[in-house]
Amino acid sequence: VARVQAISSITKCMDTIPSEYIRSENEQPAATTLQGVVLEVPVIDISNVDDDGEEKLVKEMVDASKEWGIFQVINHGIPDEVIENLQKVGKEFFEEVPQEEKELIAKKVGAKSLEGYGTSLQKEIEGKKGWVDHLFHKIWPPSAINYHYWPKNPPSYREANEEYAKCLRKVANSIFRSLSLGLGLEGHEMMEAAGGEDIVYMLKINYYPPCPRPDLALGVVAHTDMSHITLLVPNEVQGLQVFKDGHWYDVNYIPNAIIVHIGDQVEILSNGKYKSVYHRTTVNKHKTRMSWPVFLEPSSEHEVGPIPKLINEANPPKFKTKKYKDYVYCKLNKLPQ
Ligand code: SIN
Ligand code: FE2
Repeated sequence: VARVQAISSITKCMDTIPSEYIRSENEQPAATTLQGVVLEVPVIDISNVDDDGEEKLVKEMVDASKEWGIFQVINHGIPDEVIENLQKVGKEFFEEVPQEEKELIAKKVGAKSLEGYGTSLQKEIEGKKGWVDHLFHKIWPPSAINYHYWPKNPPSYREANEEYAKCLRKVANSIFRSLSLGLGLEGHEMMEAAGGEDIVYMLKINYYPPCPRPDLALGVVAHTDMSHITLLVPNEVQGLQVFKDGHWYDVNYIPNAIIVHIGDQVEILSNGKYKSVYHRTTVNKHKTRMSWPVFLEPSSEHEVGPIPKLINEANPPKFKTKKYKDYVYCKLNKLPQ
C-alpha cells in the first residue's frame, strides 16, 4: 500500500500531486473556504460545577450542541503534560519508527476491525483519496483493548496513551452529564442510553504530511462522525474546517483545549435536538498536521434510538432505533437509515 507519507516525500520538490488527490472544484479548499476569517466555535469552561455554575455550563453546552454541533472545552482537568506526551509519542511513531516496523501493525485488507496503521483505501466520491495516513486503536474499556495495535515504540507509547484515556474518561462523563441535564433528564440517563460502561473509546491518530498543493487536496473529506461524541486534540497546524450557514470556515484553535464534535448517535439519542457537525480537514504546504480524535461509540450490538422519555405525541421519534453495527453498515454503504 502506498502511504501518503511516502508520496509526500516524493512530491516534496514538485508543484503537482497525483490526480487521485485532486478534488473536484466544488470540494477544493482554495475555491470553497471563506478566506480571511476563522470561525470562533463556542468555548466552554467545564470546571465550575457548583449549582449556579452548572446551570450556566449546561445552557452553554445545549446552545453549542443545537446550533453548532461543535465546541471546545477548557479547564477540563487534563494536565497539559498528559496531552503533550500523547502527542509526542504519536509523532514519534509516525516519524521515527522505521516503515517496516509500522507495517507490522497495519490493518489487514478485509479485516473487520478498523484497528491498525493504515491509509484509507476506500475511494471516496469520484474516486478521490484523502491526503492522510492514520493509526486506529481502542483505548477504553480495558476488555476491548487489543495491544497488538498499540505501537511498541517509542517505549513510553503505552503509558502516555493509558494516562490520556484515564483523564479523558472524566471529561467524557462530565460532557454526557451536561448533555443529559440539557434534555431535562437526570445526569446519568444520557450516558446510560449511550451504552454506559461499555462505551468504546476508539483513538485515531491522523497524520497529514506536507502537501505541495494544499489548495487542491483535502485531508479528510466532509463528513459527520458516526460516534456519540468525538473528543479531539490537534497539533498546532491549522486544518479543521466546519460547515456553517452555507460556508466552510477554519476553526480557531486554543492550545490544550479539547475540541468536541457532536456525532450522529447523540443527534439520534436527543431526537434531533443536538446536531452532529459537518466537518473536513485541509493540509499544509510545508508542515505536517496531526490530530488525535477519540470516538466514543456504542458497542456494535448496542441499540440506539431517541431516548423514550423525550418522545410524546408532540415529539414523535425522528429516527429509527437500531443496532450501532447496522447504523454503521448503512452509513458506509450509503444506504438509507
Ligand atoms: C476528522 O474529523 O476525521 C479529522 C479531524 C481533524 O483532523 O482535525
Ligand atoms: Fe470527523
